[in-house]
Parts: sequence; structure tokens; C-alpha cells
Amino acid sequence: MWLEIVALLVTALFLWDHLKMRRQNKMLAAAGVRGPLQLPLLGNAPLFMLGENAETMLDLEKRLIDKHGKIVHVTMFQEFGVFTSDTRLIEAILSSQQTITKNRLYGLLHCWLGTGLLLSTGNKWFRRRKIITPTFHFKILEQFVEVFDQQSAIMAEQLYDRADGKTVINMFPVACLAALDIIAETSMGVKINAQRSPNFPYVQSVKVVSNMMAERFMNPLQRFDGSMRIFYPLLYRKLMKNIKLMHDFTDKVISERRDALQKSLNESSNNAPNAEEDDVGSKRRMALLDVLLQSSVDGQPLSNEDIREEVDTFMFEGHDTTTSAISYTLYLLARHPEVQARAFQEVREVIGDDKSKPVTMRDLGELKYLECVIKESLRLYPPVPMIGRQLTEDVVLDGKLFPARTNIIMVTYLAQRDPDFFPEPDRFNPDRFSPANVSNIDVFAYTPFSAGPRNCIGQKFAMLEMKSTISKMLRHFELLPLGEPVKPVMNLILRSTTGINLGLKPRVY
Ligand code: HEM
Repeated sequence: MWLEIVALLVTALFLWDHLKMRRQNKMLAAAGVRGPLQLPLLGNAPLFMLGENAETMLDLEKRLIDKHGKIVHVTMFQEFGVFTSDTRLIEAILSSQQTITKNRLYGLLHCWLGTGLLLSTGNKWFRRRKIITPTFHFKILEQFVEVFDQQSAIMAEQLYDRADGKTVINMFPVACLAALDIIAETSMGVKINAQRSPNFPYVQSVKVVSNMMAERFMNPLQRFDGSMRIFYPLLYRKLMKNIKLMHDFTDKVISERRDALQKSLNESSNNAPNAEEDDVGSKRRMALLDVLLQSSVDGQPLSNEDIREEVDTFMFEGHDTTTSAISYTLYLLARHPEVQARAFQEVREVIGDDKSKPVTMRDLGELKYLECVIKESLRLYPPVPMIGRQLTEDVVLDGKLFPARTNIIMVTYLAQRDPDFFPEPDRFNPDRFSPANVSNIDVFAYTPFSAGPRNCIGQKFAMLEMKSTISKMLRHFELLPLGEPVKPVMNLILRSTTGINLGLKPRVY
């Protein structure tokens, strides 16, 4: 009797699963999208959960793409989706206004970033994007060059202790503190001294939360607030405590800057001395948040909470990504001495031989070969190796009809190593981006900053920061190929399980 009831229940479950998945399975099959065999109810969960882990994820995706084609259909329980390295499909998704909604994986960042620019969708995203775009204007970025230079100088200064030509240095944590100093000073206008005082509570919290987010990304039981609260209550409490500390810090900075702005407006209306100058008469630098404080939507200023979402988004998007890019580029330079020699020669010609001379916006613009080096590094090791979307309706993309609710993961890490678009794809060759060759690169085959309406708003900021920190390192040190090679792993951003290692020797010239 019991056996019969169980058999009936199992049959009913299988039938329910089959009916629920039938429409999307049929549509994806009709679109010619294939994938590994799916089990009833479980889908492809065993494939991802048995014998695979975070470290093998990029490799697993490559194996599946090699076997099933550049668009692969996978299902986890009843979540279904495709991952793809197909340039034409990536083009169709990134260029469409219809496919701007992020997939559910991004939800884990919600408790920190709210619905700031990275996570919002629809009208809110559209309005915010319009307001925030001028924040990254050339004139604003120009004043940040001084910050990039000063913080890079501190990074170099602190590395001399270990620059003996033998010590293996993992660049990731070093670059991370410099990137944190830079993004805090440029987005909030405050010095947090992460490099000199890494134990400052706000710095600690950003590091703790960034690492916990990376962990959540990898662990299905931590991925959603509800399941994390049940299965990891202590970790969840720790996460919330640190997020609160960061929110309190950002709130305090925003109110202080709002008061300061109000004061300077009052002073200028009373004809006081130039309100943009500080007490000693030097020009005050605008932080990104100052620009937001002066913005309005339909005549209404943004609230402190609106601004906090955006400042927190800058803090998150603007430090781990550049850390990854700076570390990987230095690593590649260390392992390609001929490229390093050419980049150093250019840096010397443009900036000169005085190591203490601050770099200018003009200098950075002239570092053309270094730009090719950075672009090639972003091709091989994109800090954001996958970009996700969820379809909110049935959509035709590159001539194929995809069903609503499809999760899409664009694996740019693999697309940017596709031999159909990049000959000798694994070779580090900055000349691909030289003026003579760059027009051969398909715009949608190379998308480290994404593309289309939701591309990275901080792209120019990031390029200036990277040029500044990397040129500073080249001016001070010869980079040596020491330590274990990298093993790239997607852990929210691209990291390496072995560290991103090199050695340093002071340059004499
Ligand atoms: C090398 C460094 C960087 C890389 C490779 C990078 C890459 C990306 C990518 C791929 C996206 C699209 C993400 C997606 O759709 O899921 C993105 C979005 C974004 N990035 Fe960056 N980023 C970098 C630096 C920065 C910096 C320095 C900032 C801010 C100061 C920033 C702010 C943002 C914001 C706000 C978005 C959301 C834009 C929107 O949805 O409208 N990023 N970035």
C-alpha cells in the first residue's frame, strides 16, 4: 500500500515537473539550443554539484561549450537557462533595451547595494543612469588623477620592503587596499587610509562583506537571504552587522557633505569668498557623491538613501574589479619581459626619469602602448568574467526565440578566448589592440566592460586608475616572474586560487 502511494506521488511529481518545463524545453530545442541530459526534477544539478566546484566552473563551462556548441541549455531544479560564449547572441542581448534585467544571482548583493545602478531595472535604472552619467564627465575624472597618483605612490612606497628580487608577492591584497583608498576618496571625498591603517573598521567591513559575497556566490545554501539565515545564522548575522557598519559610515559622509554643500551655497549667495575653495584657498575636489547631491529627478533632489545606494555601488563595483585588473596586468608584465621593457620605455619617454613626479591626465592619455597591454590583459583575464540577465518576456535574440524567465549567463571569459575571433587566443599579445590591428576586433567579441545601454559607467575612471597604478609600479620596480602561476577562478569577480604572484626589484635609472 505504502509503496503504491509513494509510486503515485513520484509519478505525480515527475508529471508536474515535465508539464512545468515542457514549454521552455520545447522552445529552446526549437531554437537549436542543446545541453547535457536533464534528470526529472533535478535537471543538471548533479552535474554541477558532484565532482565540480567553484574552481572548475570556468573549465566545466568550456567543456560543455566544446561538446554542445556556444549556447548551452542547463537546468537546476526548476531554474532554467543558457550560458553562452556566442558573440552574435551576446551582441543581441547587450544591445537590446528589452533584456536589461539582471538574473537572480545578483540578488545576493541587494542587502548591501539596494537597487543602485548595478541592480535596478526598468524606469528606475533608466532615470538613475541618466543622472549618474554626467558624474563621470572628463572634468570630474581629471581631478581624480591626483588621487590615483598619490595612492599609487603609497602602494609603491610600501612595497620596497619586499622588493629584494626573491620574495614572492601576491599582488591581489596589495592592489585591493590601494583600490579601496582610491574609490573611497573619489566617490565619497574621504580618506580611509586603507593602505596605512588596514584595520580601520570601514575598511575591514568592506573586505569582510566582499569576501562573504564571493562565498555566497559559490554556495547555493548561502545564495538567498532566507536560506542563509536558516543554514548559516551566525554568518548571516556577521554579514548584516558589517553591512550596517558600512551603511552608517556612508550615511554619515553623505549628511556631512550635504551640510557642507548647503553651507557653501549660502556663502556664495552672501557673496562670501569663492565657495568652491576651502579654508586655505585651494580648490576643493568634487567627489562623485557631490555631483549626485546636486542632481535632481523631475526637479526633486536625490534623497540620502538614493545616494547611498549609488555610493555603495561605486564602492563595490569600483574596487574589486580594478584590483583584479591591476593584479593580472602586473602579473602578465612580469611574465613577458619583452612587453614589460616596451611599456617601461614608453612610461620613461612620456613621464620622464623623475620617479617622484606626479603623473598628469595628459601623460596618461599618451601611454598608448600601456593601454594596449591593459586591454589585452582584460581580454585574457576579464575581472567580470560572466554577465547575467533574466528574460522578462519571450524574446527573439539573434533569430532564436527564447522563453520568458530564461536565465542567461554570457561567459565573456570564454568569448574573449574564442579562436574564431582571436587567433592564438591564449597568447598575450598587446599588439592586437594597436591602431593598425584594433579594427579587426569584433566589438561584441571583446566586452570586459560589457556593452550597450548597461555597459560599465566607470570604464574611463577604471582605465585612468589602472594606467596610473601600473605606470607607477613600472617606474619603481622591475617585475619578476616569481611564484606559482595563476589559476583563474570566478568568485564574484575573477581571482586566482594560487594568488596573483610576482617578484620585485627596485629599478635604477
Ligand atoms: C577594470 C575595472 C572594471 C571592470 C572590468 C568593470 C566591468 C563592468 C561590467 C562587465 C559591468 C556590467 C555588469 C553587468 O551587467 O552585470 C559593469 C557595470 C558597472 N560598473 Fe564597472 N567595471 C570596472 C570598474 C568600475 C568602476 C571603477 C566603477 C565606478 C567607479 C564601476 C561602476 C559600475 C557601475 C555603477 C555599473 C552598473 C552600470 C549599469 O548597470 O548601468 N565599474 N562594470
